[in-house]
Amino acid sequence: MLNSLTLLFGIAGCTDSPAGPIETEALPDLPPVVDAAGEVGPIREVREFTLVLSGELRGEIEPCGCPTLPFGGFERRHRLLAELEQSPMPTFQIDAGEAFKKGLVHQDGRDLPRAELIRELLVDGGLDAFVPGPTDYDVLGTSGLAKLPNVVSATWTTTEDEPLFPASVVLEEDGIRLGVIGLSAVHEGLKQRPPVEAAREALASLPDDLDLVLVVSNLDDRQNREIAVNVDGYAVLVTTSGSSHEGPRHEGDVLVIEPPPRGRYLTVASMWLGTDADRMVETDAELGRTLSGLVELREVIALRTSREEPISEQIARLEAQVLRLRESAAGRNITHIDDRGLGSALDGESTASKRLDAFREKQLDAAVDRVASTSESDGPRYGTGASCVSCHTRQVANWGFTAHAKAAQSLRPRGEHQNPECVGCHSTGFGEPGGFADVSEGTMRTWGNVQCEACHGPLAGHPRDGRVEPQVINESTCVGCHDEANSPNFDYATYIRQVTCPSDEP
Ligand code: HEC
Ligand code: HEC
Ligand code: HEC
Ligand code: HEC
Repeated sequence: MLNSLTLLFGIAGCTDSPAGPIETEALPDLPPVVDAAGEVGPIREVREFTLVLSGELRGEIEPCGCPTLPFGGFERRHRLLAELEQSPMPTFQIDAGEAFKKGLVHQDGRDLPRAELIRELLVDGGLDAFVPGPTDYDVLGTSGLAKLPNVVSATWTTTEDEPLFPASVVLEEDGIRLGVIGLSAVHEGLKQRPPVEAAREALASLPDDLDLVLVVSNLDDRQNREIAVNVDGYAVLVTTSGSSHEGPRHEGDVLVIEPPPRGRYLTVASMWLGTDADRMVETDAELGRTLSGLVELREVIALRTSREEPISEQIARLEAQVLRLRESAAGRNITHIDDRGLGSALDGESTASKRLDAFREKQLDAAVDRVASTSESDGPRYGTGASCVSCHTRQVANWGFTAHAKAAQSLRPRGEHQNPECVGCHSTGFGEPGGFADVSEGTMRTWGNVQCEACHGPLAGHPRDGRVEPQVINESTCVGCHDEANSPNFDYATYIRQVTCPSDEP
């Protein structure tokens, strides 16, 4: 908040060194007063607070290796959260679910340690409420999820119609009271109440002295629209990202917010509520930001006044404008919503570092165990690409020109060539039986890059052992690595043309 104020009014360091001079040259014009065309509600004392919203983290704990905008990760998330916590405004942190399971490919027992890490990191980061989605239930189950604070779901019940979690929760901080209702998407192992009915019932059971009521959902696009249009009595609908990510928008009287997926952003909504809780919350970038920044401006002015320091004419004029602005915003609920990218500017040690380091070590240990496995049921083991050269020279030569042949090299400029989170997709056989687990330079020379067996399957013993056969290649061979985050433009038909090996047939 201090940052935005400094930016807005150019009052550098006003809280750090209150005795310093107030710079007034750079004061910008305030935005025009609110357009009075909209409906104004009863004027109530203004309540200000910050909502921090996220959803569909999908197991991401580090900045993605995405070709563009490598945002994200818990180190940066915790640093941004710590920054937000410094604001005098109460802050509420809510997640819309689908947080714990990485990728689309099921990884049996490998999902749980990651899920437990994420749960601890969310708790450490100060999460206030969580709405579980189907993949969350798959990995953690009821008891695992219950270790999170305020898990709410009005839709999920057992087959005996017992609710799994409370339908709603009231969050309270510094006198601000929020009602949060959770709507979880269908899970085939659970019974799901019809969302519209469940939402209405949960809303009716909330106390009527709340400052804001939010419905938080990981339902699909169609069901979310139904909740927005057909259910009354709440102001903000937070959803996981729909089929196409859209910015904040209004549907009916409801403000719909879709935080972007995969933990690359945190959605920060500065709320400025000047009328009844069930009135529409308007988004007005300029105004919302200004109104929030003004709190601190007034603190500075109050400080000057109390010390009988002169207030410059310019600040006095600004103060008058502030009053006018506040008057015209009276009787309205306004927000400024900002998707804050978790970029490299937030890099550094954080409260997440220790847990992440410990996890990486455990991950490597687990990979070592799997690699050493000698169980028959593991199937064939890896032979590495070097072993194919003698017989399949044409294919090896051709492969050498594909992007796959330099996949390990691409990690170097980012300094991530020994990070297990990246190596998994930029090498072959990592953590697989008969593959490799140690990410040292020497080992990576053997196993680095997306080699023959990443597509054709482990082939040690081929062609001598007739039981070892190359696997059939189709789209599912690729999407474990070419997922939405790391390969946003993946299109099987286009991509397969670039990597199909030449035939030996003349
Ligand atoms: C889930 C698999 C996966 C993980 C994990 C992964 N990557 Fe990638 N990465 C890919 C794929 C697939 C591509 C190719 C994307 C494309 O061009 O469609 C890629 C491309 C890249 C590129 C661009 C290469 C170039 O020259 O164009 C870089 C750099 C990169 N990844 C770095 C990283 C880093 C750093 C990490 C770890 C933080 C990482 N990746 C983790 C799958 C992954
Ligand atoms: C000693 C020679 C030899 C080595 C080494 C060898 N292959 Fe083969 N490979 C063959 C022969 C011969 C065939 C055809 C007969 C068969 O299918 O068993 C074949 C067939 C294949 C096929 C199927 C081709 C088709 O017509 O469908 C693939 C894919 C393949 N090999 C990949 C590999 C890979 C990957 C490696 C390295 C891990 C490898 N091979 C190592 C000799 C070899
Ligand atoms: C083990 C993980 C992995 C698998 C499996 C995999 N890829 Fe890749 N692929 C990568 C990585 C990593 C890159 C980026 C390489 C680089 O440039 O550093 C990549 C790059 C590519 C590129 C080049 C993209 C570009 O922007 O130039 C194509 C095309 C491609 N892959 C197609 C495929 C297809 C088709 C399949 C399935 C048959 C497949 N890949 C399977 C990891 C994988
Ligand atoms: C990105 C995936 C991918 C990688 C990596 C890859 N291949 Fe292939 N390869 C294919 C595809 C696709 C075909 C076409 C046949 C099929 O669909 O199985 C093919 C076909 C082959 C064939 C059969 C050729 C024929 O006569 O029809 C051989 C042999 C082969 N590859 C060997 C290799 C070797 C050796 C390497 C490593 C240097 C390698 N492949 C790496 C995807 C891959």
